[in-house]
Amino acid sequence: MGKLITFEGGDGCGKSTQLRLTAAWLRSIGKEVVETFEPGDSALGSQIRKLLLAGEHAPVPECELLLFLADRAQHVREKILPALKRGSWILCDRFSDSTMAYQLAARHLDCKSNDLAPMLKFAECGVSPDMTLWFDLPVEIAAQRMLLRQQAGEKSNRLDDEAISFHQRVAAAFAHQAESDKQRVVRIDAAVAIESVQQQLMAVIKERFAL
Ligand SMILES: Nc1ncnc2c1ncn2[C@@H]1O[C@H](COP(=O)(O)OP(=O)(O)OP(=O)(O)O)[C@@H](O)[C@H]1O
Ligand SMILES: [Mg+2]
Repeated sequence: MGKLITFEGGDGCGKSTQLRLTAAWLRSIGKEVVETFEPGDSALGSQIRKLLLAGEHAPVPECELLLFLADRAQHVREKILPALKRGSWILCDRFSDSTMAYQLAARHLDCKSNDLAPMLKFAECGVSPDMTLWFDLPVEIAAQRMLLRQQAGEKSNRLDDEAISFHQRVAAAFAHQAESDKQRVVRIDAAVAIESVQQQLMAVIKERFAL
Protein backbone atom coordinates (compact mmCIF):
# COMPACT_ATOMS: atom_id res chain seq x y z
CA MET A 1 0.00 0.00 0.00
CA GLY A 2 1.05 3.58 -0.65
CA LYS A 3 0.96 6.52 1.71
CA LEU A 4 -1.57 9.32 2.01
CA ILE A 5 -0.32 12.64 3.35
CA THR A 6 -2.85 15.43 3.72
CA PHE A 7 -2.00 19.14 3.73
CA GLU A 8 -4.32 21.10 5.99
CA GLY A 9 -4.74 24.61 7.33
CA GLY A 10 -6.51 27.88 6.66
CA ASP A 11 -6.56 29.82 3.41
CA GLY A 12 -3.21 31.18 2.29
CA CYS A 13 -1.10 29.19 4.77
CA GLY A 14 1.12 27.72 2.04
CA LYS A 15 -0.37 24.25 1.47
CA SER A 16 -0.25 24.28 -2.33
CA THR A 17 3.24 25.82 -2.42
CA GLN A 18 4.59 23.16 -0.07
CA LEU A 19 2.73 20.32 -1.73
CA ARG A 20 4.45 21.07 -5.04
CA LEU A 21 7.88 21.26 -3.37
CA THR A 22 7.27 18.04 -1.45
CA ALA A 23 6.17 16.20 -4.59
CA ALA A 24 9.33 17.31 -6.38
CA TRP A 25 11.51 16.19 -3.49
CA LEU A 26 9.84 12.76 -3.18
CA ARG A 27 10.15 12.21 -6.94
CA SER A 28 13.82 13.16 -6.77
CA ILE A 29 14.37 10.28 -4.37
CA GLY A 30 12.54 7.84 -6.65
CA LYS A 31 8.99 7.80 -5.27
CA GLU A 32 5.91 7.69 -7.44
CA VAL A 33 3.83 10.68 -6.35
CA VAL A 34 0.24 11.68 -7.04
CA GLU A 35 -0.62 15.34 -6.37
CA THR A 36 -4.26 15.92 -5.72
CA PHE A 37 -6.67 18.30 -4.01
CA GLU A 38 -10.16 18.78 -2.66
CA PRO A 39 -12.70 19.76 -3.58
CA GLY A 40 -12.82 18.87 -7.23
CA ASP A 41 -10.03 16.60 -8.45
CA SER A 42 -12.22 14.19 -10.43
CA ALA A 43 -14.38 14.73 -13.51
CA LEU A 44 -17.57 14.87 -11.48
CA GLY A 45 -15.80 16.66 -8.64
CA SER A 46 -14.80 19.58 -10.83
CA GLN A 47 -18.50 20.24 -11.34
CA ILE A 48 -19.16 20.01 -7.60
CA ARG A 49 -16.23 22.40 -7.00
CA LYS A 50 -17.81 24.99 -9.27
CA LEU A 51 -21.10 24.72 -7.40
CA LEU A 52 -19.33 25.07 -4.06
CA LEU A 53 -16.86 27.85 -4.70
CA ALA A 54 -18.19 30.07 -7.48
CA GLY A 55 -20.56 31.78 -5.07
CA GLU A 56 -23.43 32.03 -7.54
CA HIS A 57 -25.75 30.08 -5.24
CA ALA A 58 -24.58 30.05 -1.61
CA PRO A 59 -25.67 26.71 -0.09
CA VAL A 60 -27.14 26.32 3.39
CA PRO A 61 -24.57 24.75 5.77
CA GLU A 62 -26.12 21.28 5.59
CA CYS A 63 -26.08 21.32 1.78
CA GLU A 64 -22.53 22.63 1.73
CA LEU A 65 -21.36 19.81 4.00
CA LEU A 66 -23.07 17.13 1.89
CA LEU A 67 -21.57 18.48 -1.35
CA PHE A 68 -18.07 18.42 0.13
CA LEU A 69 -18.65 14.84 1.32
CA ALA A 70 -20.04 13.79 -2.06
CA ASP A 71 -16.94 15.17 -3.73
CA ARG A 72 -14.70 13.30 -1.26
CA ALA A 73 -16.37 9.93 -1.81
CA GLN A 74 -15.91 10.30 -5.57
CA HIS A 75 -12.31 11.46 -5.14
CA VAL A 76 -11.36 8.63 -2.78
CA ARG A 77 -12.82 5.85 -4.92
CA GLU A 78 -11.76 7.28 -8.27
CA LYS A 79 -8.31 8.61 -7.47
CA ILE A 80 -6.94 8.01 -3.97
CA LEU A 81 -7.73 4.32 -3.49
CA PRO A 82 -6.36 3.20 -6.88
CA ALA A 83 -3.16 5.21 -6.24
CA LEU A 84 -2.79 3.72 -2.75
CA LYS A 85 -3.16 0.23 -4.24
CA ARG A 86 -0.43 1.01 -6.79
CA GLY A 87 1.87 1.92 -3.91
CA SER A 88 2.04 5.65 -4.70
CA TRP A 89 2.63 8.53 -2.35
CA ILE A 90 -0.49 10.67 -2.47
CA LEU A 91 -0.20 14.30 -1.44
CA CYS A 92 -3.68 15.70 -0.96
CA ASP A 93 -4.37 19.43 -0.61
CA ARG A 94 -7.19 19.46 2.00
CA PHE A 95 -9.20 16.48 3.23
CA SER A 96 -11.55 15.68 6.13
CA ASP A 97 -9.90 18.07 8.60
CA SER A 98 -10.84 20.97 6.34
CA THR A 99 -14.44 19.76 6.28
CA MET A 100 -14.40 19.57 10.06
CA ALA A 101 -12.95 23.09 10.36
CA TYR A 102 -14.87 24.92 7.62
CA GLN A 103 -18.16 23.09 7.18
CA LEU A 104 -18.70 22.07 10.81
CA ALA A 105 -16.88 24.30 13.30
CA ALA A 106 -16.90 27.57 11.37
CA ARG A 107 -20.55 27.08 10.33
CA HIS A 108 -21.55 26.19 13.88
CA LEU A 109 -22.60 22.68 12.91
CA ASP A 110 -21.47 20.92 16.05
CA CYS A 111 -19.95 17.58 15.20
CA LYS A 112 -20.77 15.90 18.51
CA SER A 113 -24.30 17.08 19.13
CA ASN A 114 -25.29 16.48 15.53
CA ASP A 115 -23.48 13.18 15.35
CA LEU A 116 -21.86 14.20 12.08
CA ALA A 117 -18.48 12.52 12.59
CA PRO A 118 -19.74 9.17 11.21
CA MET A 119 -20.73 10.93 8.00
CA LEU A 120 -17.19 12.20 7.55
CA LYS A 121 -15.91 8.64 8.01
CA PHE A 122 -18.48 7.32 5.52
CA ALA A 123 -17.27 9.76 2.85
CA GLU A 124 -13.65 8.63 3.34
CA CYS A 125 -14.62 5.14 2.06
CA GLY A 126 -12.24 3.42 4.45
CA VAL A 127 -9.22 5.61 3.76
CA SER A 128 -7.48 7.65 6.41
CA PRO A 129 -4.34 9.78 6.15
CA ASP A 130 -1.05 8.21 7.22
CA MET A 131 0.02 11.69 8.19
CA THR A 132 -1.55 15.14 8.23
CA LEU A 133 0.55 18.27 8.01
CA TRP A 134 -1.19 21.18 9.68
CA PHE A 135 0.14 24.54 8.52
CA ASP A 136 -0.26 26.76 11.54
CA LEU A 137 -0.34 30.43 10.54
CA PRO A 138 -1.91 33.39 12.37
CA VAL A 139 -5.04 34.52 10.53
CA GLU A 140 -3.65 38.06 10.13
CA ILE A 141 -0.54 36.84 8.27
CA ALA A 142 -2.67 34.58 6.08
CA ALA A 143 -4.89 37.56 5.21
CA GLN A 144 -1.81 39.56 4.14
CA ARG A 145 -0.64 36.75 1.89
CA MET A 146 -4.09 36.41 0.36
CA LEU A 147 -4.13 40.13 -0.35
CA LEU A 148 -0.78 39.90 -2.16
CA ARG A 149 -2.06 36.95 -4.13
CA GLN A 150 -5.18 38.85 -5.14
CA GLN A 151 -3.13 41.91 -6.12
CA ALA A 152 -1.14 39.56 -8.36
CA GLY A 153 -4.39 38.77 -10.15
CA GLU A 154 -5.67 35.58 -8.53
CA LYS A 155 -9.42 35.52 -7.87
CA SER A 156 -10.64 34.68 -4.38
CA ASN A 157 -13.42 32.13 -3.88
CA ARG A 158 -16.62 32.14 -1.80
CA LEU A 159 -14.90 30.70 1.29
CA ASP A 160 -11.84 32.99 1.05
CA ASP A 161 -14.26 35.91 1.19
CA GLU A 162 -15.82 34.93 4.53
CA ALA A 163 -15.41 37.32 7.51
CA ILE A 164 -12.29 37.27 9.67
CA SER A 165 -14.31 35.70 12.53
CA PHE A 166 -15.08 32.73 10.24
CA HIS A 167 -11.35 32.27 9.53
CA GLN A 168 -10.61 32.52 13.24
CA ARG A 169 -13.08 29.70 13.97
CA VAL A 170 -11.41 27.66 11.20
CA ALA A 171 -7.98 28.24 12.80
CA ALA A 172 -9.25 27.29 16.26
CA ALA A 173 -10.78 24.10 14.88
CA PHE A 174 -7.50 23.02 13.24
CA ALA A 175 -5.67 23.66 16.50
CA HIS A 176 -8.21 21.58 18.38
CA GLN A 177 -7.91 18.69 15.92
CA ALA A 178 -4.11 18.73 16.12
CA GLU A 179 -4.39 18.55 19.89
CA SER A 180 -6.87 15.68 19.83
CA ASP A 181 -5.03 13.49 17.27
CA LYS A 182 -1.34 13.97 17.97
CA GLN A 183 -0.40 10.67 16.36
CA ARG A 184 -1.64 11.68 12.92
CA VAL A 185 -1.46 15.48 12.85
CA VAL A 186 1.93 17.20 12.80
CA ARG A 187 2.08 20.94 13.38
CA ILE A 188 4.18 22.90 10.94
CA ASP A 189 5.20 26.49 11.70
CA ALA A 190 3.96 28.14 8.51
CA ALA A 191 4.95 31.70 9.47
CA VAL A 192 8.57 31.29 8.35
CA ALA A 193 10.16 31.47 4.89
CA ILE A 194 9.10 28.96 2.20
CA GLU A 195 12.45 27.14 2.40
CA SER A 196 12.24 26.82 6.20
CA VAL A 197 8.71 25.42 5.99
CA GLN A 198 9.95 22.89 3.42
CA GLN A 199 12.83 21.89 5.72
CA GLN A 200 10.35 21.15 8.51
CA LEU A 201 8.21 19.04 6.17
CA MET A 202 11.15 17.03 4.90
CA ALA A 203 12.32 16.38 8.44
CA VAL A 204 8.96 15.13 9.71
CA ILE A 205 8.30 13.01 6.61
CA LYS A 206 11.77 11.44 6.76
CA GLU A 207 11.30 10.65 10.42
CA ARG A 208 7.76 9.28 10.14
CA PHE A 209 8.40 7.08 7.12
CA ALA A 210 12.06 6.24 7.82
CA LEU A 211 13.27 7.69 4.49
N1 LIG B 1 6.31 30.65 3.78
C1 LIG B 1 5.80 31.63 3.03
N2 LIG B 1 6.15 32.91 3.23
C2 LIG B 1 5.61 33.91 2.50
N3 LIG B 1 4.72 33.74 1.50
C3 LIG B 1 4.32 32.48 1.25
C4 LIG B 1 4.83 31.35 2.00
N4 LIG B 1 4.25 30.23 1.53
C5 LIG B 1 3.41 30.61 0.55
N5 LIG B 1 3.45 31.95 0.37
C6 LIG B 1 2.65 32.75 -0.57
O1 LIG B 1 1.38 32.94 0.05
C7 LIG B 1 0.33 32.77 -0.89
C8 LIG B 1 -0.53 31.58 -0.47
O2 LIG B 1 0.21 30.37 -0.59
P1 LIG B 1 -0.49 29.04 -1.12
O3 LIG B 1 -1.29 29.33 -2.34
O4 LIG B 1 0.55 27.99 -1.19
O5 LIG B 1 -1.46 28.79 0.11
P2 LIG B 1 -2.66 27.75 0.24
O6 LIG B 1 -2.60 27.27 1.65
O7 LIG B 1 -2.60 26.75 -0.83
O8 LIG B 1 -3.92 28.70 0.05
P3 LIG B 1 -5.44 28.26 -0.32
O9 LIG B 1 -6.00 27.64 0.91
O10 LIG B 1 -6.12 29.55 -0.61
O11 LIG B 1 -5.36 27.34 -1.49
C9 LIG B 1 1.02 32.54 -2.24
O12 LIG B 1 1.07 33.77 -2.90
C10 LIG B 1 2.40 32.04 -1.88
O13 LIG B 1 3.36 32.36 -2.84
MG1 LIG C 1 -4.00 26.19 -2.29
